Amino acid sequence: MPPVARRTALAVALAAGLAGTVHAAAPTDRPWMDRSLPADRRAELIVAAMTDDEKFRLIRSDFGLASDKHGVPEGAVSGAGYVPALPRLGLAAINETDAGLGVNKPGIDGKGAISLPAGLATAASFDPAVAHAGGRMIGGEARGKGYAVLLSGGVNLVRDPRNGRNFEYAGEDPILAGTIVGAAVKGIQERKILATVKHFAINDLETGRNTHSADIDPVALRESDLLAFQIAIAHGDPASVMSAYNRINGVYAGENAWLLTDVLKKEWGFKGFVMSDWGGVHSGAKAAMAGLDQESAGEVFDKEVYVDKPLRAAVASGEVPKARLDDMVRRIMRSLFAHGVIDEPTPVKPTVAVPYAADRVVARDALEAGAVLLRNEGALLPLARKGQSVVVIGAHADKGVLAGGGSSTVTDEGGDPVPGLEPTGWPGPVRYHASAPLTYMQKLGGKVTFDPGTDPAAAAKAAAAADVAVVFVTKWAAESYDAPDMSLPDGQDALVAAVAKANRKVVVVLETNGAVKMPWLGDVGAVMQAWYPGSGGGEGIARLLYGETSPSGRLPVSWPKDEAQLPRPTIQAAGLNAKDKPADDIDYNIEGADVGYRWFEKTKRDPLFAFGYGLTYTTFAYSDFAVGTDAAGHPVAHVTVKNTGRVAGADVPQIYVAAPGGAMRRLAGWSKVSLKPGASRRVDIPLEPMALARYDDAGKRWRVAPGTYKVKLARSATDFAGEATLEMKESFPVVKAP
Ligand code: BGC
Repeated sequence: MPPVARRTALAVALAAGLAGTVHAAAPTDRPWMDRSLPADRRAELIVAAMTDDEKFRLIRSDFGLASDKHGVPEGAVSGAGYVPALPRLGLAAINETDAGLGVNKPGIDGKGAISLPAGLATAASFDPAVAHAGGRMIGGEARGKGYAVLLSGGVNLVRDPRNGRNFEYAGEDPILAGTIVGAAVKGIQERKILATVKHFAINDLETGRNTHSADIDPVALRESDLLAFQIAIAHGDPASVMSAYNRINGVYAGENAWLLTDVLKKEWGFKGFVMSDWGGVHSGAKAAMAGLDQESAGEVFDKEVYVDKPLRAAVASGEVPKARLDDMVRRIMRSLFAHGVIDEPTPVKPTVAVPYAADRVVARDALEAGAVLLRNEGALLPLARKGQSVVVIGAHADKGVLAGGGSSTVTDEGGDPVPGLEPTGWPGPVRYHASAPLTYMQKLGGKVTFDPGTDPAAAAKAAAAADVAVVFVTKWAAESYDAPDMSLPDGQDALVAAVAKANRKVVVVLETNGAVKMPWLGDVGAVMQAWYPGSGGGEGIARLLYGETSPSGRLPVSWPKDEAQLPRPTIQAAGLNAKDKPADDIDYNIEGADVGYRWFEKTKRDPLFAFGYGLTYTTFAYSDFAVGTDAAGHPVAHVTVKNTGRVAGADVPQIYVAAPGGAMRRLAGWSKVSLKPGASRRVDIPLEPMALARYDDAGKRWRVAPGTYKVKLARSATDFAGEATLEMKESFPVVKAP
């Protein structure tokens, strides 16, 4: 898509003066404004009153930013999308903005925003409450900044550590990812704005995303990526779903009737609307008949606005029934009524201040809950608060923490402390968040100095003179391309190696999109994965390093040793500005539904670190593991967890199940348990019935086969602490809200 037009967010903003109209008691000529009526009824009433022109206006958004096609539309709050007000009907304008980690455009207060850490960090918390709090925070900022739609809810599965957008998603496991994103969506929408689960579906690599076909057996798709969407949608009740760019088994996601209509709307009962991705529409009648309800910024990103002239002609000729057009409009209106945007329009002036300082604490807490301690030899961490000199090395740790790139990048409310890094154009600019680890480490520790890490010899010298060296390393990743490999760039491996030669006590803090190769791993004492740490990241990292809080994140992805362990060791045309042609087809049948830890199990390979793995500063013991069913017949595991160490911490007991006949194991439940030293608690862990089920294509339903299931209590996908069996009768579970 044209870089000039990139980057924005959609929103619905009230035209000034309209709020009074909207708040007034329902006038008899506007019965849809009657708040006592259900959203479905209100949507029906307004659709019945609309002219064709009004309907065709509502089913497309305009690009809300200046582009080579037009300036910022009049009345828009400047975001990825904009639907003008329809004053005759009492409808305010709709402003849409990106994205999952926070609001990426200034909005009506003209300020930056607070960014959560990467979605992978939130997923690594294994705590839906963390995701929910994050959703509430970014949803509140979106509303406060005048946006009614937050294009947030990325739940594509991580199938490859090189995918440039992994940091926007929630890991490799469909049940964990769906649960986390569902909780985030719920939090966002509690602020009375709309959330958007995306990118539906299997946009799991960025290379050639606008053209490639993601090829996968439909049953495997249902048991992997679609299951994540199904859970996120059932738990979060999002107002909208964004169709993906790519084709699926040859058919564009936005024209895929099986996906959008049969599965999403009919089988799952999705009541919201399907919006396209920006530049993801290729037809009018075909897309509308497949189930697309709104074209996003087609005047800038598509060949033409397909839902305008071409669709008008198709409706006039009867190729597309009028009822389908009405359904498109009804779905959009229903979402606006159901999620409170019509009754409580988003502000048009910055009357209520956005609580940036409090929001930064939410972001910090999310990082503290989701950073993963991968290695800690000889209890090098936590650092001593007194009597230990520390040199912090590299990665602008004196200024801030790195953010991922693309449409989701948030400009920090505190400014960008490291401006001008390449690429400065799309999918950049590269941004840092104004939360410097060094500053907070100096507050918590004693003597803490800094070396920029630009000269390995100088860094080694500084390391030799300190008791401990903490090296920060980064790897920027961004929307629109995949990394060609898993290596750290810019000579950072040599930097770590040089520092590790000079000092035995080296801590490495990673700010990356996920797994990277660490050739120096055996030479350093400790490694912490801080993902992209977000607006509170520097403080969160410092607090973890100094033991103000114990690390409790667990990997939401398997950590391969190298690319050779992946289902696709190479990605054709990967890399920023690659010149060769991307593949026409991505063969996801190689792993099918056996993504991540299931792939490692199937291929009998050992990852470097397993899914679910993470260390902490204390120790936990398990006892009395048992499995049974609750009053409703749903499986539940029980275990007593005891903190046997000397500091407070949180553990994540995990339950994996394997179906009769030795089928692959699957994460079925977990619990995040915080305990003071010496304390213990009996926890009940409800098991997700879908984890025990397989999709029965002939019966078009999920089926739990009768028989004996192996149930394992585990510290990670490969580290087991107990085993039990569970007898199940045949059943046909459906995904339900918790
Ligand atoms: C991205 C979406 C984003 C949209 C609007 C697209 O390029 O894939 O995730 O919401 O742009 O900025």
